[in-house]
Amino acid sequence: MKQEFNPNYPSIDSLRRKAKCKIPGFAFDYVDGACNEELNLRKNTQEIREVELKPYYLRDYDGTSMKTELFGEIYDAPFGIAPIGLQGLTWPGAAEILAKAAFEHNIPYTLSTVSTASIEKIAEITEGKAWFQLYHPADEAIRDDIMDRCKAAGIKNLMILADTPTFGYRNKEIKNGLAIPPRMTFKNILQILVSPHWAIETLRQGQPEFQTLKKYMDSKMDLRHLALFMNKTFDGRLSEDRVKKIRDKWDGNLILKGVASTEDAKKAVDLGLDGLIVSNHGGRQLDAGQSTIKAMAEIVEQYKGQIKIMMDSGVRIGPDIARTLASGADFVFMGRSFMYGVGALGKVGGDHTITILKKQLQQILDQCCCKTPADFPKHLVK
Ligand SMILES: Cc1cc2nc3c(=O)[nH]c(=O)nc-3n(C[C@H](O)[C@H](O)[C@H](O)COP(=O)(O)O)c2cc1C
Repeated sequence: MKQEFNPNYPSIDSLRRKAKCKIPGFAFDYVDGACNEELNLRKNTQEIREVELKPYYLRDYDGTSMKTELFGEIYDAPFGIAPIGLQGLTWPGAAEILAKAAFEHNIPYTLSTVSTASIEKIAEITEGKAWFQLYHPADEAIRDDIMDRCKAAGIKNLMILADTPTFGYRNKEIKNGLAIPPRMTFKNILQILVSPHWAIETLRQGQPEFQTLKKYMDSKMDLRHLALFMNKTFDGRLSEDRVKKIRDKWDGNLILKGVASTEDAKKAVDLGLDGLIVSNHGGRQLDAGQSTIKAMAEIVEQYKGQIKIMMDSGVRIGPDIARTLASGADFVFMGRSFMYGVGALGKVGGDHTITILKKQLQQILDQCCCKTPADFPKHLVK
């Protein structure tokens, strides 16, 4: 729902602070936290911010445009919404809210396999423009069925995930009992009691469920059995053979997410994929890993032009998007920035966050006299 811009929340950080006060602590920690000591999480943003841009002030200026072509689609901005599991825990209906905002702003929204909205619902909201992220089902029949559902819903872009061969060791989630579903400890119940708006909305809309996966679960299975179901049904370790099978079956665009080395980037190119996303899952998997901006440098050097190169992890604000594009990304994704937005402002949070990012990015384009996002590399201070 497009709204008048609320000046009380001019930045992503102001949304983060508001979300922290508004939603239960365990729900905030789920989005905000990362693995182990959270070094990789911090490094991601810090190292993006080391990138500097140079402006050209005395050029003829005849306007700039953020419009960006990707896989034959012209988007209104060079960024999109990354897949986030269990979005409804941050705010009831968060997946639908973000999908609608993305559709109205003409940017991509990616639905996670383990999100709280179904493929069909999100495809309807976005008129088939949403992207889908597929966790790897161990059972090929489930994998094929999910892909068939995506195709029937008109989805053209499928993301497969390289970086989850294991479950990240996340201190906050362990402490909060944030298994799937969250354990209702005394502390968690207290946190819900001090978040009345969230509690009322959650009661009104019902406990979040994995709508896409419901179909494959025994109807008698209650939420407590879900973790077992997930362990049994999904095997996150991707292999060349598995990617080949998906490539053979999927005739839309196939994108490998979670690439952090030139070795995997080469495989993505050799296997005929259409795109790759340099990502470390927002620092949730390998604390000792490199920041994505560093990992992307080598990948861009070797593979730019051979495959679409996108990046996420650590990008929070408009200037970060500009720095990432200047470093050679064709497109940028973000996860947490949007989740802070819905956590803070509920159903208008998606629109507000996208508006902030667009305003910030437009100002940089105009300031630097950079005609289009694809020209950002010309403004990179090497
Ligand atoms: C709470 C949370 C849940 C996530 N769930 C998924 C998921 O289900 N599938 C997926 O591919 N990536 C998932 N990610 C990773 C995001 O898609 C994305 O890579 C990451 O958030 C980007 O980093 P940023 O949050 O710093 O922008 C998740 C990230 C967070 C923070």
